[in-house]
Amino acid sequence: MPARTRPRHPARVLVRRERATDVAAVRALVVAAFPTPGGADEPVEAGLLDALRADPGWLPAFSLVAEDPAGEVVGHVVATRGDVDGHPAVGLGPVAVRPDRQRRGVGTALVHALLGAAEARAETLVAVLGEPTFYGRFGFRPAAELAIGSPDPAWGDSFRVRPLIGRVPRGRFRYAAPFAGL
Ligand SMILES: CC(C)(COP(=O)(O)OP(=O)(O)OC[C@H]1O[C@@H](n2cnc3c(N)ncnc32)[C@H](O)[C@@H]1OP(=O)(O)O)[C@@H](O)C(=O)NCCC(=O)NCCS
Repeated sequence: MPARTRPRHPARVLVRRERATDVAAVRALVVAAFPTPGGADEPVEAGLLDALRADPGWLPAFSLVAEDPAGEVVGHVVATRGDVDGHPAVGLGPVAVRPDRQRRGVGTALVHALLGAAEARAETLVAVLGEPTFYGRFGFRPAAELAIGSPDPAWGDSFRVRPLIGRVPRGRFRYAAPFAGL
């Protein structure tokens, strides 16, 4: 019998827009999901999310949570306003799933929902810096293939773009300002 690659059954979740009452639970799951560097109190992604919330690039329609049948928030994804040489675009991340619910399709559901929301709002592209094994399945392509420059050339093919509707602008992608502080 072939080995099972997904031993646990998919999680049942609803993906919806984040509400004000979800913010604390989202922060807690981001702290739990990402590693905390030695000597630090919490992962850098927790502070990044706080800074993004306070930034003009925050897009409430693109902050989505996954809620389990008990009403608990078990995953979160966000995309914020960036640009490609002045043309509006969005940058994805952070995305986080509570550790006890990982590898059960929650992250996949969140990213699909985010891409659908972005396309429905006529965004031309979503950019991401991340694991090719995770993001490749959503149609993200190395940004260079689309003539989009990375904020940091050292990121190479880990910086990817998912084209959406309309003409994809060419040029250099810039994230919302808080990403520069990472
Ligand atoms: C990355 C993350 C959001 C994925 O969410 P998830 O619900 O666990 O992902 P899914 O169950 O939808 O899995 C989809 C695929 O992603 C990949 N993947 C997910 N977690 C992985 C991990 N820890 N290591 C390696 N690959 C992983 C696998 O290819 C997986 O497919 P498979 O289960 O068939 O092998 C989640 O693991 C997480 O919160 N990780 C910590 C935070 C992080 O690294 N965020 C991403 C960078 S912003």
